[in-house]
Amino acid sequence: MGSSVRPRHWTGRGAVPQVTCATNRSVMHGADGVQCIFVAPNKINVNVPNDLPSLPYETQMGTSMEQALEWLRAGEPVALPTETVYGLAANALDGHAVARIFAAKNRPAFDPLLVHVDSVASARKYAYLPGWVERALEANGPGPLTFVVPKKDCIPDLVTSGLPTVGIRIPNHPLFLEVLRQLPFPLAAPSANPFGYISPTTAQHVWDQLYGKIPYILDGGACSVGVESTIVDATLPVPTVVRLGGTPVERVEALLGRTVEVRTHSSSRPQAPGLLESHYAPRIPLILVDEHEVVEVPCGWAAVGYRNIAHWIQVDPNRSWLLTPQNNDCEAAANLFAFLRAADSSGAQGIVASRAPQQGLGPAINDRLQRAAHFPA
Ligand code: TXA
Ligand code: MG
Repeated sequence: MGSSVRPRHWTGRGAVPQVTCATNRSVMHGADGVQCIFVAPNKINVNVPNDLPSLPYETQMGTSMEQALEWLRAGEPVALPTETVYGLAANALDGHAVARIFAAKNRPAFDPLLVHVDSVASARKYAYLPGWVERALEANGPGPLTFVVPKKDCIPDLVTSGLPTVGIRIPNHPLFLEVLRQLPFPLAAPSANPFGYISPTTAQHVWDQLYGKIPYILDGGACSVGVESTIVDATLPVPTVVRLGGTPVERVEALLGRTVEVRTHSSSRPQAPGLLESHYAPRIPLILVDEHEVVEVPCGWAAVGYRNIAHWIQVDPNRSWLLTPQNNDCEAAANLFAFLRAADSSGAQGIVASRAPQQGLGPAINDRLQRAAHFPA
């Protein structure tokens, strides 16, 4: 970590948001006197989602594990590859480090972060895991599956936005796991995109959007799964999938040996966030259709089909993508965010995208497309 990669105008800790914890309250002071109050456990009262200063860094991208570790040890956020999407990671036990994630992403502080660990034994240090969750995590191994469980006091309120629960995940990427093994703390990590935009599945995606806002991007190639982890709330009477993702619901049920509920309803200001109606959204309008319909693509628009859109009318061959010509849901998920980005940057005025069949990762793909869909009134 040479001086050349220090933030250009960084004047030390005093210049970044600080978090101090009172009994059940965290008060965050921004450099410019902005304040943000987190009240735990039930009432979340946060008023500075967008006001945290984001610092200019001379961002570097590379494959140096040592650089990534040095920045993380120094309390800085680093983009790391996972099997689902790239995460923006920082020390989950350090409120200062976590505040930098919110600043870099421009993420509202009411939206809690997941905590990443390398093993069930490690997870036990930070959260209370019911036996059935432990068994499921052991049986699954590292993978795109997150459990929401009661948190221990060592996890700062800022990580969970004041909620008494925390999402715990063991990511299945060799670089992320190696980073975790080398560090004495767990890593809080949301997807490494500006809040509300399409999640990154390559290091270049992170670079394109967070350049100047973070010091280092560890390049681990393209993410193999391509959609975020499935989140199961283990604190409800019946285990409930609250976000569809890289582990299909059938697999969750097989792991748990029981049926689960699926409740991924969204609202514009959910009590347990992460289910915002509009998310993963390209900058240009996106409308969602059924692929088998005969669709007339508006002039100047891009098309993102699932398997075959040969019957669509007026498709611009330079602005059309197929998620999976082979009709494979895993391939489609792995391509989804990259193709949405490509369409968004293609100069098109909008995107027509088609739904996936409702099997395997299809529901997770459709969930992302549904939240990405928007059309100006
Ligand atoms: O695959 C993934 O899960 C990726 C990689 C980086 O691990 N992470 C990710 O994090 O998708 P993020 O922050 O982009 O999405 C996590 C979602 C958020 O929408 C958040 O609101 C929700 O999980 N969440 C976090 N903690 C929660 C909690 N205690 N209760 C309910 N929802 C929670
Ligand atoms: Mg995200």
